Amino acid sequence: MAQAVIEFVEVTKRFGPALAVDRMSFAVAPGEFFTLLGPSGCGKTTTLRLVAGLEEPDEGEILLNGIPIASPKRGIFVPPDKRRMGMVFQSYAIWPHLTVFENVAFPLRVRREPAAAVKERVLGALDLVGLQGLAERGATELSGGQQQRVALARALAYTPAVLLLDEPLSNLDAKLREQMRFELRSLQRRLNLSVLYVTHDQGEAMAMSDRIAVVHRGRPEQVGVAAELYETPASSFVGDFLGRTVMLRGTVKKSAQGSWIDLRNAGGRISLANNRPAQFAEGEEVRILSRPEDIDLLPGGEVGPNQIKAKVEMVAYLGDHLEYSVSAGGRSFVLAAGKKARYPVGAGIRLAFDPARITVLPL
Ligand SMILES: Nc1ncnc2c1ncn2[C@@H]1O[C@H](COP(=O)(O)OP(=O)(O)O)[C@@H](O)[C@H]1O
Ligand SMILES: [Mg+2]
Repeated sequence: MAQAVIEFVEVTKRFGPALAVDRMSFAVAPGEFFTLLGPSGCGKTTTLRLVAGLEEPDEGEILLNGIPIASPKRGIFVPPDKRRMGMVFQSYAIWPHLTVFENVAFPLRVRREPAAAVKERVLGALDLVGLQGLAERGATELSGGQQQRVALARALAYTPAVLLLDEPLSNLDAKLREQMRFELRSLQRRLNLSVLYVTHDQGEAMAMSDRIAVVHRGRPEQVGVAAELYETPASSFVGDFLGRTVMLRGTVKKSAQGSWIDLRNAGGRISLANNRPAQFAEGEEVRILSRPEDIDLLPGGEVGPNQIKAKVEMVAYLGDHLEYSVSAGGRSFVLAAGKKARYPVGAGIRLAFDPARITVLPL
């Protein structure tokens, strides 16, 4: 990767005894849309505040274009106003008593930019976010979506080195939120912005990001492009966070005929050929993860290779497809299926796995 715009090296931040960020490392490339995705309380906002200089790390280093901006061991801490970060918060944080123009101009005025330059930049930024012509409106005369655009324009007005976005769409209604995903992404591409984006919404992360770091308890558990994380999750946390998973336990078996996972409880076995069997030892207990859409439902009968027995517990009719709740191997999960074959509640069926599309994890 080219010189990272933002790099975290083993950064730790505590609040009293609580560990908000735990030896966090990641790097954002120039022009990259990089997203921190994780549940509430996992340390996303704290990470953005560390980048902005609103918090000081306890340990580790934060670099901007290769230069340390926070490093307790070297006694370095560059204050927020010297970092050129544009930040947009979940709550728009715009000033209700100011006009749209003055809201966007505020950071430029703080930096004592000449009036002509302020005007040019503010009008340019309002143009970028689709608010041209609204400069003289009072900020509170705008809709929620427009107010969020004002916040975005304010962050863009002084060409930040990095744009920091903390769940900026979460206060918008669903339809506008989806439209804004595309707008933000196309704006980022057009301006070649480096973006560090924070969300708990996996759909949002997958729709917009170049790369995603799935954060769990203050640490990125896996970093990659959306398809990598979805199809080859490094842990069940990542697998579950990015969508539905089917998880079963089994035992690794090796013989001259090949390697497989014995799913005793579900009465079947799954070939390990596509999963580098050398990683696992004979007799090792493992979990297999599959995406529901990679599993086929077949009528009951003798199980063949890569199949297990299951029982239909519930069926829901969803118009274009059916959703089955099935039990297998002592667990229940939900699988979608077409309408051609219909299995009634209580029916014994088989589930066929695609051994090329399963993830095997140590127990
Ligand atoms: N100023 C603070 N004082 C004490 N604890 C805090 C403070 N800010 C965040 N925390 C704690 O740090 C953890 C991470 O918080 P945060 O970064 O806000 O998570 P997220 O944005 O992912 O929801 C949480 O347990 C939170 O309670
Ligand atoms: Mg937060």
